[in-house]
Amino acid sequence: MALHFWNFSSISFLGILSLLATFHQITPITIVNATPPISSIRPVFREAPAFRNGETCGGAIGDKTIPKQRVIHVAMTLDSNYLRGTMAAVFSILQHSTCPENVEFHFLTIKHEPEVISIINSTIPYLNFKVYCFDETRIQGLISKSIRQALDQPLNYARIYLADILPSTVKRVIYLDSDLVMVDDIAKLWEVDLEGKVVAAPEYCRANFTIYFNKAFWADEELTKTFEGRKPCYFNTGVMVMDVEKWRQGNYTEKVKDWMVIQKIKRIYHLGSLPPFLLVLAGNIKAIDHRWNQHGLGGDNIEGKCRSLHPGPISLLHWSGKGKPWLRLDSRKPCSVDHLWAPYDLYRSRRQFFEE
Ligand SMILES: *[C@@H]1O[C@H](CO)[C@@H](O)[C@H](O)[C@H]1NC(C)=O
Ligand SMILES: *[C@@H]1O[C@H](CO)[C@@H](O)[C@H](O)[C@H]1NC(C)=O
Ligand SMILES: *[C@@H]1O[C@H](CO)[C@@H](O)[C@H](O)[C@H]1NC(C)=O
Repeated sequence: MALHFWNFSSISFLGILSLLATFHQITPITIVNATPPISSIRPVFREAPAFRNGETCGGAIGDKTIPKQRVIHVAMTLDSNYLRGTMAAVFSILQHSTCPENVEFHFLTIKHEPEVISIINSTIPYLNFKVYCFDETRIQGLISKSIRQALDQPLNYARIYLADILPSTVKRVIYLDSDLVMVDDIAKLWEVDLEGKVVAAPEYCRANFTIYFNKAFWADEELTKTFEGRKPCYFNTGVMVMDVEKWRQGNYTEKVKDWMVIQKIKRIYHLGSLPPFLLVLAGNIKAIDHRWNQHGLGGDNIEGKCRSLHPGPISLLHWSGKGKPWLRLDSRKPCSVDHLWAPYDLYRSRRQFFEE
């Protein structure tokens, strides 16, 4: 198996540039164990290599001796339209983990699709994962139209219900969007000290917070009172470490939903699931290093223009915004940052195309 592995956790901006410059040299990818296509229209993925725990990990999940607290719970949504992104994200997490067998994935989906599950199973046969059906009728009536249709998908709101959906044995979870790759050991993110907060995420206090809500909101003293006693800062909800028990005890699902009801009546923001999260939690999260969410690589929400990286170390790259790396790569008009996603792409047809 000639798959090239390299660890670029903590690489600098210049490091990324030089990596981009040398990209064409990091090629030899061999298709292993080619399975026949499940159906001609379904995307088919190549099989990822098996990832095994390092010696310091002390056994794998199946192994009864592993202490429960060693399991890293990761929740993601599962949508056949985004499967290519999901597979790349999962692959990147495993590849950079010292203890990949300790990672358990919890996939939230709207419809039970046996084909999707069988694709995951054949692409990463060693993956520890569970699939949960999210009942979209729980949220449907509460979703207001936003500026981008993709943001209005019920599955986008599933993260609000994580605490209800996950089994009670899960005390902490890392929620991740499907348009990102991890380039560092997820265990480092898992171990952050939440210091009593319900959510940990990178926080951006220099971003203009005003823009996430409209004039009607800022003019309404009753509504703006929600920020009394805290300094609200923007955070991205695509990467969150969540204390599931605290979330349940504090009725956070209800709190977020309450704001969605207000939005239905008064229209106080333009984006989808982000603003109600900000209303409840902004200024009251545990701020973690920005390296854990280099977001916005998909460009803005309207045009999705190319964007370059912010300087500083990077542990996670996130194509939030309109543009998605797999679409731009396929269109042969990729942004330079998209080449950082490509090595994690398990989709087969493009690889074969490159190898020809
Ligand atoms: C996954 O594949 C294995 C064989 O490779 C099979 O035994 C197992 O039942 C499959 N699981 C699912 C959920 O499809
Ligand atoms: C933030 O955005 C609002 C609305 O666009 C604008 O009125 C305000 O001047 C901005 N504030 C800063 C500090 O840039
Ligand atoms: C959460 O909701 C339950 C039931 O509605 C209520 O009894 C409890 O006091 C609430 N807890 C908080 C912290 O609001």
